[in-house]
Amino acid sequence: VDQKSVWIGTNWKMNKGPAEAIAAARAFSNFHLPEGVRCFLAPPATSLRDVCSVLQDTPMMVGAQNMFWEDSGAWTGEISAPMVAECGASTVLLGHSERRQHFGETDWTVNRKVHAALRHGLRPLICIGDTADEFEFGVSQETLARQTKIALHGVSQEDLGRVVVIYEPVWAIGSAGRPAEAPFVSEIHTKLRGVVQGIVGRNSSVRIPLLYGGSVSQANICDYVALPDVDGVLVGRAGWDPADFIKLVSRVG
Ligand code: G3P
Repeated sequence: VDQKSVWIGTNWKMNKGPAEAIAAARAFSNFHLPEGVRCFLAPPATSLRDVCSVLQDTPMMVGAQNMFWEDSGAWTGEISAPMVAECGASTVLLGHSERRQHFGETDWTVNRKVHAALRHGLRPLICIGDTADEFEFGVSQETLARQTKIALHGVSQEDLGRVVVIYEPVWAIGSAGRPAEAPFVSEIHTKLRGVVQGIVGRNSSVRIPLLYGGSVSQANICDYVALPDVDGVLVGRAGWDPADFIKLVSRVG
Protein backbone atom coordinates (compact mmCIF):
# COMPACT_ATOMS: atom_id res chain seq x y z
CA VAL A 1 0.00 0.00 0.00
CA ASP A 2 1.30 3.41 -1.00
CA GLN A 3 2.39 5.20 2.15
CA LYS A 4 1.11 8.55 0.95
CA SER A 5 -2.45 7.47 0.15
CA VAL A 6 -5.37 9.03 1.98
CA TRP A 7 -8.39 6.75 2.21
CA ILE A 8 -11.94 8.08 2.25
CA GLY A 9 -14.86 5.71 2.35
CA THR A 10 -18.53 5.93 3.00
CA ASN A 11 -20.65 3.25 4.59
CA TRP A 12 -24.21 3.62 3.32
CA LYS A 13 -25.47 1.30 6.09
CA MET A 14 -29.11 0.22 5.52
CA ASN A 15 -29.80 2.97 3.01
CA LYS A 16 -30.25 3.05 -0.78
CA GLY A 17 -32.00 0.13 -2.43
CA PRO A 18 -31.03 -0.59 -6.06
CA ALA A 19 -32.76 2.38 -7.73
CA GLU A 20 -31.39 4.96 -5.32
CA ALA A 21 -27.99 3.27 -5.21
CA ILE A 22 -27.64 3.28 -9.00
CA ALA A 23 -28.51 6.97 -9.11
CA ALA A 24 -25.96 7.71 -6.37
CA ALA A 25 -23.28 5.59 -8.05
CA ARG A 26 -23.82 7.42 -11.35
CA ALA A 27 -22.88 10.64 -9.60
CA PHE A 28 -19.38 9.14 -9.26
CA SER A 29 -19.04 7.79 -12.79
CA ASN A 30 -17.03 10.78 -14.03
CA PHE A 31 -15.49 11.40 -10.67
CA HIS A 32 -11.83 12.34 -10.89
CA LEU A 33 -9.95 11.20 -7.83
CA PRO A 34 -7.26 13.59 -6.64
CA GLU A 35 -3.81 12.03 -6.67
CA GLY A 36 -3.01 9.98 -3.60
CA VAL A 37 -6.66 9.61 -2.59
CA ARG A 38 -8.32 6.18 -2.48
CA CYS A 39 -12.10 6.05 -2.19
CA PHE A 40 -14.56 3.31 -1.43
CA LEU A 41 -18.32 2.93 -1.11
CA ALA A 42 -20.10 0.26 0.92
CA PRO A 43 -23.67 -0.17 -0.37
CA PRO A 44 -26.15 -2.61 1.16
CA ALA A 45 -25.90 -6.16 -0.24
CA THR A 46 -28.94 -5.90 -2.50
CA SER A 47 -27.41 -2.89 -4.28
CA LEU A 48 -23.86 -4.20 -4.45
CA ARG A 49 -23.92 -5.69 -7.93
CA ASP A 50 -25.58 -2.67 -9.53
CA VAL A 51 -23.19 -0.23 -7.88
CA CYS A 52 -20.22 -2.34 -8.97
CA SER A 53 -21.48 -2.36 -12.58
CA VAL A 54 -21.94 1.40 -12.66
CA LEU A 55 -18.47 2.02 -11.20
CA GLN A 56 -16.49 -0.80 -12.81
CA ASP A 57 -14.33 1.44 -14.99
CA THR A 58 -13.71 4.05 -12.33
CA PRO A 59 -11.15 4.20 -9.52
CA MET A 60 -13.94 4.06 -6.91
CA MET A 61 -13.67 0.83 -4.92
CA VAL A 62 -16.89 -0.86 -3.92
CA GLY A 63 -17.37 -3.21 -1.02
CA ALA A 64 -19.90 -5.11 1.04
CA GLN A 65 -20.79 -4.12 4.61
CA ASN A 66 -20.54 -7.65 5.97
CA MET A 67 -20.38 -11.30 4.87
CA PHE A 68 -20.15 -14.81 6.31
CA TRP A 69 -16.98 -16.90 6.46
CA GLU A 70 -18.16 -20.12 4.79
CA ASP A 71 -18.18 -20.14 0.98
CA SER A 72 -21.63 -21.73 0.62
CA GLY A 73 -24.06 -24.00 2.42
CA ALA A 74 -26.97 -24.00 4.85
CA TRP A 75 -26.53 -20.50 6.28
CA THR A 76 -29.91 -18.90 5.69
CA GLY A 77 -29.78 -15.17 5.23
CA GLU A 78 -26.03 -14.92 4.80
CA ILE A 79 -23.85 -13.94 1.85
CA SER A 80 -20.36 -15.33 1.25
CA ALA A 81 -17.03 -13.91 0.12
CA PRO A 82 -17.25 -15.53 -3.35
CA MET A 83 -20.71 -14.01 -3.79
CA VAL A 84 -19.40 -10.57 -2.83
CA ALA A 85 -16.45 -10.99 -5.21
CA GLU A 86 -18.72 -12.17 -8.02
CA CYS A 87 -20.72 -8.95 -7.69
CA GLY A 88 -17.52 -7.14 -8.63
CA ALA A 89 -16.68 -5.84 -5.17
CA SER A 90 -13.06 -5.54 -4.08
CA THR A 91 -13.49 -4.80 -0.38
CA VAL A 92 -15.63 -5.76 2.59
CA LEU A 93 -16.25 -4.01 5.90
CA LEU A 94 -15.89 -6.47 8.77
CA GLY A 95 -16.66 -6.09 12.46
CA HIS A 96 -18.53 -2.80 12.25
CA SER A 97 -19.69 -1.90 15.76
CA GLU A 98 -23.32 -2.01 14.67
CA ARG A 99 -22.76 -5.67 13.78
CA ARG A 100 -20.94 -6.31 17.05
CA GLN A 101 -23.70 -4.58 19.06
CA HIS A 102 -26.81 -5.89 17.36
CA PHE A 103 -25.90 -9.01 15.40
CA GLY A 104 -23.60 -11.00 17.63
CA GLU A 105 -20.34 -10.28 15.80
CA THR A 106 -17.37 -11.20 17.99
CA ASP A 107 -13.61 -10.91 17.68
CA TRP A 108 -13.57 -14.59 16.73
CA THR A 109 -16.14 -14.23 13.92
CA VAL A 110 -14.29 -11.19 12.61
CA ASN A 111 -11.10 -13.28 12.41
CA ARG A 112 -12.88 -16.01 10.45
CA LYS A 113 -14.29 -13.42 8.06
CA VAL A 114 -10.92 -11.71 7.57
CA HIS A 115 -9.44 -15.04 6.45
CA ALA A 116 -12.41 -15.74 4.16
CA ALA A 117 -12.15 -12.29 2.56
CA LEU A 118 -8.42 -12.68 1.91
CA ARG A 119 -8.91 -16.17 0.48
CA HIS A 120 -11.27 -14.73 -2.11
CA GLY A 121 -9.21 -11.70 -3.05
CA LEU A 122 -11.24 -9.17 -1.09
CA ARG A 123 -9.56 -6.45 0.95
CA PRO A 124 -10.86 -6.62 4.53
CA LEU A 125 -11.64 -3.24 6.07
CA ILE A 126 -11.65 -4.23 9.73
CA CYS A 127 -13.60 -2.03 12.11
CA ILE A 128 -12.63 -1.87 15.76
CA GLY A 129 -13.96 0.40 18.49
CA ASP A 130 -14.33 1.04 22.19
CA THR A 131 -17.73 1.45 23.83
CA ALA A 132 -18.67 4.47 25.95
CA ASP A 133 -18.12 2.35 29.09
CA GLU A 134 -14.68 1.19 27.99
CA PHE A 135 -13.79 4.81 27.22
CA GLU A 136 -15.02 5.93 30.68
CA PHE A 137 -13.08 3.19 32.45
CA GLY A 138 -9.93 4.09 30.53
CA VAL A 139 -9.53 0.70 28.81
CA SER A 140 -9.98 1.83 25.18
CA GLN A 141 -6.40 0.87 24.25
CA GLU A 142 -6.76 -2.62 25.71
CA THR A 143 -10.01 -3.23 23.81
CA LEU A 144 -8.57 -1.99 20.53
CA ALA A 145 -5.40 -4.04 20.90
CA ARG A 146 -7.43 -7.17 21.63
CA GLN A 147 -9.81 -6.63 18.72
CA THR A 148 -6.92 -5.96 16.32
CA LYS A 149 -4.78 -8.89 17.45
CA ILE A 150 -7.65 -11.36 17.21
CA ALA A 151 -8.88 -10.01 13.85
CA LEU A 152 -5.41 -10.40 12.33
CA HIS A 153 -4.49 -13.67 14.00
CA GLY A 154 -2.97 -16.12 11.55
CA VAL A 155 -2.88 -13.70 8.60
CA SER A 156 0.27 -14.11 6.49
CA GLN A 157 2.80 -11.31 6.03
CA GLU A 158 1.80 -11.00 2.40
CA ASP A 159 -1.90 -10.74 3.19
CA LEU A 160 -1.31 -8.20 5.96
CA GLY A 161 -0.36 -5.81 3.15
CA ARG A 162 -3.98 -5.93 1.92
CA VAL A 163 -5.68 -5.18 5.21
CA VAL A 164 -7.09 -1.85 6.44
CA VAL A 165 -7.98 -1.17 10.10
CA ILE A 166 -10.63 1.41 10.98
CA TYR A 167 -10.95 2.88 14.45
CA GLU A 168 -14.58 3.79 15.09
CA PRO A 169 -15.33 4.64 18.73
CA VAL A 170 -18.87 3.42 19.38
CA TRP A 171 -19.57 6.63 21.32
CA ALA A 172 -18.65 8.74 18.28
CA ILE A 173 -20.92 7.06 15.73
CA GLY A 174 -24.29 8.28 14.52
CA SER A 175 -26.54 11.17 15.46
CA ALA A 176 -26.29 10.35 19.18
CA GLY A 177 -22.48 10.30 18.98
CA ARG A 178 -19.95 13.07 19.38
CA PRO A 179 -16.85 13.16 17.20
CA ALA A 180 -13.69 12.06 18.99
CA GLU A 181 -11.28 14.94 19.62
CA ALA A 182 -8.35 14.94 17.18
CA PRO A 183 -5.67 14.76 19.94
CA PHE A 184 -7.39 11.68 21.38
CA VAL A 185 -7.56 10.03 17.96
CA SER A 186 -3.90 10.87 17.47
CA GLU A 187 -2.93 9.18 20.72
CA ILE A 188 -5.07 6.11 19.98
CA HIS A 189 -3.72 5.74 16.45
CA THR A 190 -0.11 6.09 17.51
CA LYS A 191 -0.60 3.28 20.02
CA LEU A 192 -2.53 1.28 17.41
CA ARG A 193 0.36 1.75 15.02
CA GLY A 194 2.54 0.09 17.65
CA VAL A 195 0.09 -2.80 17.94
CA VAL A 196 -0.06 -3.40 14.17
CA GLN A 197 3.72 -3.04 13.82
CA GLY A 198 4.03 -5.71 16.47
CA ILE A 199 1.83 -7.94 14.33
CA VAL A 200 3.46 -7.28 10.95
CA GLY A 201 6.95 -7.30 12.48
CA ARG A 202 8.87 -4.23 13.56
CA ASN A 203 11.15 -4.21 10.53
CA SER A 204 8.50 -4.95 7.95
CA SER A 205 7.80 -2.37 5.26
CA VAL A 206 4.09 -3.27 5.38
CA ARG A 207 2.13 -0.24 6.52
CA ILE A 208 -1.45 -1.12 7.43
CA PRO A 209 -3.63 1.94 6.75
CA LEU A 210 -5.36 3.11 9.94
CA LEU A 211 -8.59 5.04 9.34
CA TYR A 212 -10.79 6.94 11.76
CA GLY A 213 -14.60 6.93 11.68
CA GLY A 214 -17.34 8.45 13.82
CA SER A 215 -19.19 11.71 13.04
CA VAL A 216 -16.64 12.78 10.45
CA SER A 217 -17.93 15.88 8.64
CA GLN A 218 -16.87 18.68 6.30
CA ALA A 219 -15.94 20.65 9.41
CA ASN A 220 -13.54 18.14 10.97
CA ILE A 221 -12.24 15.83 8.21
CA CYS A 222 -9.02 17.81 7.74
CA ASP A 223 -8.24 17.69 11.48
CA TYR A 224 -8.19 13.88 11.35
CA VAL A 225 -6.44 13.44 8.03
CA ALA A 226 -3.66 15.78 9.15
CA LEU A 227 -2.70 13.44 12.01
CA PRO A 228 0.49 11.45 11.32
CA ASP A 229 -0.96 8.05 12.16
CA VAL A 230 -4.32 8.59 10.49
CA ASP A 231 -4.40 7.39 6.87
CA GLY A 232 -7.97 8.38 6.13
CA VAL A 233 -11.55 8.28 7.29
CA LEU A 234 -14.71 6.24 7.08
CA VAL A 235 -17.77 8.44 6.84
CA GLY A 236 -21.40 7.61 7.50
CA ARG A 237 -24.07 10.29 7.34
CA ALA A 238 -21.85 13.04 5.97
CA GLY A 239 -21.07 10.93 2.88
CA TRP A 240 -24.44 9.46 1.96
CA ASP A 241 -25.23 12.27 -0.46
CA PRO A 242 -22.75 11.85 -3.34
CA ALA A 243 -22.33 15.63 -3.69
CA ASP A 244 -21.33 15.79 -0.01
CA PHE A 245 -18.92 12.87 -0.42
CA ILE A 246 -17.27 14.58 -3.40
CA LYS A 247 -16.87 17.73 -1.29
CA LEU A 248 -15.24 15.71 1.49
CA VAL A 249 -12.80 14.25 -1.00
CA SER A 250 -11.95 17.64 -2.44
CA ARG A 251 -11.14 18.92 1.04
CA VAL A 252 -8.35 16.43 1.49
CA GLY A 253 -7.25 15.96 -2.14
O1 G3P B 1 -19.06 3.25 9.34
C1 G3P B 1 -19.15 4.63 9.47
C2 G3P B 1 -19.92 5.02 10.64
O2 G3P B 1 -20.12 4.06 11.60
C3 G3P B 1 -19.80 6.40 11.12
O3 G3P B 1 -21.08 6.92 11.00
O4 G3P B 1 -22.70 8.69 10.63
O5 G3P B 1 -21.12 8.81 12.59
O6 G3P B 1 -20.26 9.16 10.28
P1 G3P B 1 -21.33 8.48 11.14
